[in-house]
Amino acid sequence: MASALNSLFSWLMTPDNVTRVVATMRDLGKKEALEAAAGEALGKTLSVAQLDVCSDESVTNCLSHIDGGQVDVLEAGSEDSGPWAGFEQHSLHYPLVNNAGVGLVGPLEGLSLATMQNVFNTNFFGAVRLVKAVLPGMKRRRRGHIVVVSSVMGLQGVMFNDVYAASKFALEGFFESLAIQLRQFNIFISMVEPGPVTTDFEGKLLAQVSEAEFPDTDPDTLGYFRDLYLPASRELFRSVGQSPRDVAQVIAKVIGSPRPPLRRQTNARYLPLTVLKAMDPSGGLGTDLGQKRTLDPLESDYSLCELSSMDPDLCASW
Ligand SMILES: NC(=O)c1ccc[n+]([C@@H]2O[C@H](COP(=O)([O-])OP(=O)(O)OC[C@H]3O[C@@H](n4cnc5c(N)ncnc54)[C@H](OP(=O)(O)O)[C@@H]3O)[C@@H](O)[C@H]2O)c1
Repeated sequence: MASALNSLFSWLMTPDNVTRVVATMRDLGKKEALEAAAGEALGKTLSVAQLDVCSDESVTNCLSHIDGGQVDVLEAGSEDSGPWAGFEQHSLHYPLVNNAGVGLVGPLEGLSLATMQNVFNTNFFGAVRLVKAVLPGMKRRRRGHIVVVSSVMGLQGVMFNDVYAASKFALEGFFESLAIQLRQFNIFISMVEPGPVTTDFEGKLLAQVSEAEFPDTDPDTLGYFRDLYLPASRELFRSVGQSPRDVAQVIAKVIGSPRPPLRRQTNARYLPLTVLKAMDPSGGLGTDLGQKRTLDPLESDYSLCELSSMDPDLCASW
């Protein structure tokens, strides 16, 4: 993640952009890499704070360190306090970016409900908790920008990712609805939707599941998962996985946009997904393609473009 953070921070710190960042993490014991990525900005324009999105108390504590809890835009000459004392006074675009997320892969029969609930608690309710905390201030000031890292799995279901995809679909429905209400308050919502990204996330997950037992799962499903899904998934990440830096650059672009988009995919390879849904409201095409993609991810990505009449080169130029 350090490279991604570096590129995001360097953009954030340029004079025309955001000039103050509160970077948060669950466990401050891991902050060394983050601080190294922040470089000279640390303690000047960037501070690090503890935040567990699953805890009301942690969210309240974290916001209490941010200039009276005001996440969003500070005007030139505003009173500074706490970690911001002594900072230069600039007009700031100061959005909330929620990146926290956990994955879950495996046959449904072998997963406990508690494990599934943990995914929703982090990926969905974590984001909801943060938004509830910052929204009153944004509404009062009649401006704001909330950026949330969703996924292409919030647009299209993927085999053996049922619960993770559901948590991202929940995010998409929640923020799509909220965005409509927030228009009148001049508050923008942006969902950044990466495809595969080569981070610890997938590496850890695939290593864990290749050893997991998945009790109560029938041999056919388990065989399909282990012998077809897992190798294809590794190949997909190896061949088309983006770097965290690519995603950070898209986030930076979204933050810098004068009229931020509601949705922004990071990997143009997946753009045809949205066209495909619109083309086939019955969902049949998507389900057929979903199965093909598990068996042959690269070939079916190509047919995805063909089916939706999109030029794959459009992706590269996007
Ligand atoms: N990697 C992909 O292929 C991919 C694709 C599409 C979307 N995404 C999304 O991208 C986002 C970042 O994922 P990543 O790939 O960069 O994986 P990652 O390296 O595992 O990052 C996830 C981060 O979320 C943090 N987190 C988890 N639970 C939290 C909590 N309760 N409170 C605060 N922070 C918490 C983790 O902190 P700890 O270090 O303390 O665990 C970790 O820093 C996630 O929302 C993920 O769903 C990833």
